[in-house]
Amino acid sequence: MIHSGRDCFVDDFMNPGSFLRFGTMESGSLLSTGFSRALPPGPPGCLLPFRSDRSRELTVKFSKIGFCLRRFLANTPAALLRMITYIKQPHAREHRLIFKNVDREGWDPSIECYLRDGGYEDLKKAFTMQPKDITEEVKKSGLRGRGGAGFPTGMKWTFIPPNNTKPVYLVCNGDESEPGTFKDRYILHQDPHQLVEGMVIAAYAVGAKTAYIYIREEFPEAALLVERAIEEARSHNFLGKNVLGSGFDVEIYVHRGAGAYICGEETGLIESLEGKRPYPRIKPPYFPAALGLYMCPTIVNNVESLCHVKHIIRMGGDEYAKLGVARNTGTRILCVSGDVKNPGYFEVEVGKVTMRELLYDMCGGPKDGREFKAVIPGGSSSKILKCDEVFKLKNPDGSTRDLNFWDIQMDFDTLAACGSMAGSGGVIVLDDTRKMSWVLNNLNAFYAHESCGQCTPCREGSTWMKKISDRLVEGTASPADIETLESVAYQIDGRTICAFGEASSWPVEAIIGKFRDELLADTKESNAKLPCNPEAEAQRRFLQHA
Ligand SMILES: Cc1cc2nc3c(=O)[nH]c(=O)nc-3n(C[C@H](O)[C@H](O)[C@H](O)COP(=O)(O)O)c2cc1C
Ligand code: SF4
Repeated sequence: MIHSGRDCFVDDFMNPGSFLRFGTMESGSLLSTGFSRALPPGPPGCLLPFRSDRSRELTVKFSKIGFCLRRFLANTPAALLRMITYIKQPHAREHRLIFKNVDREGWDPSIECYLRDGGYEDLKKAFTMQPKDITEEVKKSGLRGRGGAGFPTGMKWTFIPPNNTKPVYLVCNGDESEPGTFKDRYILHQDPHQLVEGMVIAAYAVGAKTAYIYIREEFPEAALLVERAIEEARSHNFLGKNVLGSGFDVEIYVHRGAGAYICGEETGLIESLEGKRPYPRIKPPYFPAALGLYMCPTIVNNVESLCHVKHIIRMGGDEYAKLGVARNTGTRILCVSGDVKNPGYFEVEVGKVTMRELLYDMCGGPKDGREFKAVIPGGSSSKILKCDEVFKLKNPDGSTRDLNFWDIQMDFDTLAACGSMAGSGGVIVLDDTRKMSWVLNNLNAFYAHESCGQCTPCREGSTWMKKISDRLVEGTASPADIETLESVAYQIDGRTICAFGEASSWPVEAIIGKFRDELLADTKESNAKLPCNPEAEAQRRFLQHA
């Protein structure tokens, strides 16, 4: 179990030294207490990986006790004092829309607090509109999904077959399993009504009378808070039958996740919701908007994406689209972890902040005496970027221009043009103390552990890649192993049922492509004195033990 308040995540857990050590390694086997603010940051060693159903059960129980304890402590003056001192002021470059209430002084997740702040007014406005007009506003807003792929939300909603006669479902993806990402948990813990309001509007727009919030198993406190928010919303008729006299009925149910990374993949999530093993489905034909939950049209959206909907209704699609840059509109939450002075979350206008501004101005630059080496910009599945890279970008007229790493705008299109992706917004920073063999091995260990095993290239390939990188960190790999590793990665890529195949092979392809010499140096036993610092040493021990 990880004591996982904000401070734990940013100070220790999400630091690659420890995040890669624990977070990626056992995504499916860690349980976050979700404690935030009322308890002091957990010590780095506050970790109990569980290895059996019994220990999992005990850990969940323990976490529930922790939740009650937190509530009790929250009423003591000392805890209140601590809560006040933990409040993080937004950085001047931030534009808070979704995180306006996160860690806000005097804020709590109750409906009374939410209503005092103008809550559910956007829902009332939505009911003055036709469902198709809401979808139109979302399309105009240019909102792109914040779960990973950056697919346009409004367009996804229009994929429900027009002649559909089956029930339509709305599913909120609260699995937040991509390593390096820690944003949805804050919404679930601190502002659940924002999500409920966004979901009711989205359900009305797509005609869903039943909606689910799939919450990562490791967030038991979040599930309790969201369930309470749903009850509160129902008691105010923001949910249930004939919502606010509109004639529209909708119910939202919380579904606790099954504790595996693959449960975040939308079709795996749907299988899990149906009570089955989360084996992803092949697309086509199983695009959820056509054949989703119970083979009915299903819209799956990320927590953050659904929260944006209420702001789009309030502002209007055109006004919302003025935030950010062309084709990359609105705000998004960047979760910065790793080797920077001030890691944490930052909500910024998409594309309005460059890599330099993010890492130096907002995160305080590298730790003392160190230099930035590389950045994984969009969660662990995105391709790594070197800090001294210069990218060749195409202009609209067909000509090319050079773009320096530090001038990369943190938006979907620029990061894609640089060969990586904005993904889920998890920016993992590595400095010159990090050995790439260690990073590679850490990622491989995670993906080998999390493959669902359905398709051969992924099941066999991810384990094979881990075995080779194990040899690299042990100092027993040969130069030919690097070639084999690269070849295995390219043979997984594009040959699997779901995008996990790419998620596991892209980091390997990019790290080998960009750090081949460094990896080759580690094939000589004399050089393979891995890991290179105490955090990496602890990670190695953990991997050996796992
Ligand atoms: C292996 C894998 C894991 C994923 N995990 C998550 C996740 O934890 N949360 C999430 O919102 N999307 C995740 N996704 C993306 C979802 O499949 C889906 O695209 C997303 O929930 C759609 O929401 P959006 O359009 O609002 O981004 C994952 C995808 C893959 C391939
Ligand atoms: S790619 Fe991997 S995770 Fe996805 S279905 Fe195949 S085996 Fe499972």
